[in-house]
Amino acid sequence: MTQSRPIAMVGVDKDLIDLIQELPDWELAGVFDSHPAADALGIPHLGGDDAWAEVHVARPDLGIVIAIDPTGLKSKLVIHYGRDALRTVIALDGYVARSATLGPGCIVQRGARVLPAAVLGHSVKLNVGATVHHDGRIGDCVTLAPGCTILGTVTLEDRVYVGAGAIILPKVTVGKGATIGAGAVVAADVPEGMTVVGVPARPLERRRKREPMS
Ligand SMILES: CC(C)(COP(=O)(O)OP(=O)(O)OC[C@H]1O[C@@H](n2cnc3c(N)ncnc32)[C@H](O)[C@@H]1OP(=O)(O)O)[C@@H](O)C(=O)NCCC(=O)NCCS
Repeated sequence: MTQSRPIAMVGVDKDLIDLIQELPDWELAGVFDSHPAADALGIPHLGGDDAWAEVHVARPDLGIVIAIDPTGLKSKLVIHYGRDALRTVIALDGYVARSATLGPGCIVQRGARVLPAAVLGHSVKLNVGATVHHDGRIGDCVTLAPGCTILGTVTLEDRVYVGAGAIILPKVTVGKGATIGAGAVVAADVPEGMTVVGVPARPLERRRKREPMS
C-alpha cells in the first residue's frame, strides 16, 4: 500500500476538499486563504499566502494545489508558491488518456476527461464533468468550469476561463486570458482578453463594470 502524501489547498473549494479527502494518495493538511474565517469544512487554516514561506521551510514535503478559479490570480499564485510545490490531483473516476500530457498542479475532478493526445500546461483545472477532447492544446492556468466541452484540436491559450456547460467547437483557438460565458457555443476564434457569451458566442457588451474572471 502506498503512503499518502501531504497536500494543502490555496483558496477554499468545497468540491476539491471533498475530492482530496476521498483519494488515498493524499492527506489534506490544510488551506491557505487570506480569510481566516473561510468556511473550509473543518480543514485547518494554515494562514494567508504570506504564511507559505515559513510553512514550506518547516514542511518541505508539503505539496500545493491551487483551487482558485480566476485565471489571472491563479497565475500570480503559481509564482508565489512556486511550480516545484504544485501537485496534480485526479479523481478516481476522472479519465486521463495514456497519450495525454498534464503539467504539474492540474485538477481532474469527478467525471472529467482528458482524451488522447491532449496536452495540458500547469495548473489547469477541469471541474466536475469537464472534457478536453483529442489533440486539445490547453495552456497554463486555464480553468474549465463544470460540464464544459472542449472539442477536438481546440487551442486554449494561457489563462483562458471557460464557464459551465460551454462548448468550444473543433479547431477553434481562444486567445490568452479570454473568458467564455456559461452555456456559450464558441464557433470562431476568440481574441486575447475578450469575453464572449451566447449561442453562437459573441463579444459581451458590458453595461456594468465588474471584476473580470481573468
Ligand atoms: C460571462 C461572465 C464571465 C460575465 O460576467 P460579468 O462580466 O460579471 O457580466 P454580468 O453578470 O455583469 O452580465 C453582463 C450582461 O451579460 C449577460 N450575461 C452574463 N453571463 C452570460 C452568459 N453566460 N450568457 C449569456 N448572457 C450572459 C447578463 O445577463 C448581462 O446582461 P444585461 O447587461 O442585459 O443585464 C459570467 O456571467 C459567466 O458566464 N461566468 C461563468 C460562471 C460559471 O460558469 N461559473 C462556474 C463556477 S464553478
